[in-house]
Amino acid sequence: MSVIKVAILGFGTVGEGFYRTIQSHAEELKAVLGKKVEVAAILIKNKQKERDISSDVLVTTEFEDILNLPQLDVVVEAIVDKDPTYIYLRKAIERGSHIITANKEMFAHYGQELLELAKTHHVSVGYEATVAGGIPVIQTLRQLLNVNRVQQVQGILNGTSNFILTEMREKKLSFTEALRAAQENGYAEADPTNDVEGFDAFYKAMILSRLAFSEEPNWDAVERTGITSITSELIETAGRLGLRFKHIASIKKFGKQLKVSVEPVLVGNEHPLYHVEGVQNAVNISSDIVGQITLQGPGAGMFPTASAVIEDLVYVCQNRPDSEGFQSTSDTIASPEEGQHEENWLITGFKHATNDVIKMIDHIEDGTWIAKAKKEEMKELSRQNLGVVYFPIIGEYEGRHILTRLA
Ligand SMILES: NC(=O)c1ccc[n+]([C@@H]2O[C@H](COP(=O)([O-])OP(=O)(O)OC[C@H]3O[C@@H](n4cnc5c(N)ncnc54)[C@H](OP(=O)(O)O)[C@@H]3O)[C@@H](O)[C@H]2O)c1
Repeated sequence: MSVIKVAILGFGTVGEGFYRTIQSHAEELKAVLGKKVEVAAILIKNKQKERDISSDVLVTTEFEDILNLPQLDVVVEAIVDKDPTYIYLRKAIERGSHIITANKEMFAHYGQELLELAKTHHVSVGYEATVAGGIPVIQTLRQLLNVNRVQQVQGILNGTSNFILTEMREKKLSFTEALRAAQENGYAEADPTNDVEGFDAFYKAMILSRLAFSEEPNWDAVERTGITSITSELIETAGRLGLRFKHIASIKKFGKQLKVSVEPVLVGNEHPLYHVEGVQNAVNISSDIVGQITLQGPGAGMFPTASAVIEDLVYVCQNRPDSEGFQSTSDTIASPEEGQHEENWLITGFKHATNDVIKMIDHIEDGTWIAKAKKEEMKELSRQNLGVVYFPIIGEYEGRHILTRLA
């Protein structure tokens, strides 16, 4: 029986999980691929670390050793950082290998180049593990986009932020205490900036945007806000209104305008992301034929991520035509220009009783209001009133009563 030869770049959580899964699921892989899968080589950085790797696998710190293997069908990349990873993957494609990556930062920056290069070399690119860990969101979107017109993708894409918000609400912790709990549980890095400032979710949103809408917004124009400004008081106020803070990446098209945001929003309990708690991730896809689909599951971890990578292995080995890039729709939600339609907002720090622009629909407590307004109006309100903080409410707000109507 012929063999599929694989090299793994990186032997950390993801690389090792994938290696072990190839062994534990060898029979299933052989059945689906009709060939045995063998790990030929593993690239690592630190030669001194003890690793549980079979002696017939080449373990090296030199990428050239990988490229010089006599047979190299698939290169699986599970390294951190975007350089030199991108160069490694370019070389792997040029050599004629399929590639699979778990590295969202690298793929957000260079995914398009790699996809185009792969097309010219007639190989496939798997990147399921770059977004929402074990949740098969990439495959689901690929499948859905055959005919459906995707209108919006919304997701909780960073388990660390979701864990912190959940801990703050359930255990009444401050942000700092909840972050410490995330670090103690191994859910947050010593430097948590990437997660809590929204960079990680931003990279994933860019990858989803390219897949769902065949384009990305100008990165500088994307509103990216993390969760560091969320206080226990805000969470408590939201709770009294039946709302929960969720850090949500949202990608949608208004007519021809692509709109992407990564920010804390408030959701009511009718929203599919309301019940997504702890380190879980979830993605909600709206499309014209099927309506709404929500996928929920583990967004990280050794075996959930290995599941995504192993499914990619099957995908790239089948080298289906759609891996060469499919056309997704550009005819989506016909709506007013972004920022020009009214939404509901929670406003805090607004000390006045009235306002001549914003429609206040509920007065919660001193300085705290629910308003119905356009985003541009909210920006203007905060420019004119130092200390005003506002958050969008997704879905219907079940307000108690309309207090003031001052438009
Ligand atoms: N962890 C997750 O649950 C998860 C989920 C989805 C996606 N990802 C993504 O998957 C990638 C890997 O994550 P991870 O958690 O597995 O990381 P990790 O545990 O820190 O492991 C990284 C591995 O890469 C190796 N490495 C780093 N730089 C290298 C270089 N320049 N050349 C060769 N090897 C290098 C390290 O080698 P040494 O062992 O020698 O130090 C280590 O084996 C990241 O891009 C991450 O964002 C992770």
